[in-house]
Amino acid sequence: MAVKIVVADATHVKYAQDVCDLIRITAQQKGSGIVDRSPDYVTDRIKTGRAVIAFDEERVVGFVYIETWSHGMFVANSGLVVDSDYRYKGLARQIKKSVFELSRKLYPTSKIFSITTGLAVMKLNSELGYVPVTYSELTRDIEFWQGCEGCKNFDILQRNNYQKCLCTGLVFDPAKQKEHKKSSTDVVPQRLPFSVFFARPYIFTKRIFQRLYIKIKRFKSRKKTNNKS
Ligand SMILES: CC(C)(COP(=O)(O)OP(=O)(O)OC[C@H]1O[C@@H](n2cnc3c(N)ncnc32)[C@H](O)[C@@H]1OP(=O)(O)O)[C@@H](O)C(=O)NCCC(=O)NCCS
Repeated sequence: MAVKIVVADATHVKYAQDVCDLIRITAQQKGSGIVDRSPDYVTDRIKTGRAVIAFDEERVVGFVYIETWSHGMFVANSGLVVDSDYRYKGLARQIKKSVFELSRKLYPTSKIFSITTGLAVMKLNSELGYVPVTYSELTRDIEFWQGCEGCKNFDILQRNNYQKCLCTGLVFDPAKQKEHKKSSTDVVPQRLPFSVFFARPYIFTKRIFQRLYIKIKRFKSRKKTNNKS
């Protein structure tokens, strides 16, 4: 599969209609959860470098775009689609990795989040370091939640005051990632000198003395039996 994954720019605007067609066909498939997008919306994402497209030659076979919420505090990688002829070949994994890296580059301090019922997206997000959270940890931007209006479970979300629904919330928090890295490197230098400079030589010397003690004991007992005979 010679598929090329590119960060979109103005030169890709001519593919906006192909992207829309792929999204529309996918949206019509049962249970995809994908919301149809207008050519203007897709064009804007492409032009502003906030989309990733997968091409097989000139054919658009995958797409995803970046949205910002709560004045940039949150970023979502939305509308992930892979052409049905290209599924189960690891293409979504590559597209997600690419859009994740792009999101980190464009919005390094933003939390990256997603809501999904799909196993594929849960797996891919977990691999990238997202963790499951309650909706209280996600954007409270009403416009984001209004995007769920087209979903057949929207009444459940409304009944639960936009705090719970069937989707799992997942978030990647760059601040927590830094804390985690810092604390894991903190531990290493504290433990290393003790084990390297004290514990290991102590165990080594103890073993030598133990063996010596056993040898002396054996020697003495042999001597005793020799004397008796
Ligand atoms: C979901 C979708 C993007 C996956 O694309 P894909 O290229 O087939 O995914 P990949 O081949 O990269 O697979 C990634 C992992 O997800 C798993 N996976 C893929 N599709 C799956 C599905 N429908 N159900 C369960 N697991 C799935 C794969 O087995 C793989 O897991 P593994 O490597 O641990 O075995 C594609 O099926 C699609 O476009 N679906 C319709 C739109 C949609 O649902 N988008 C997600 C919106 S939240």
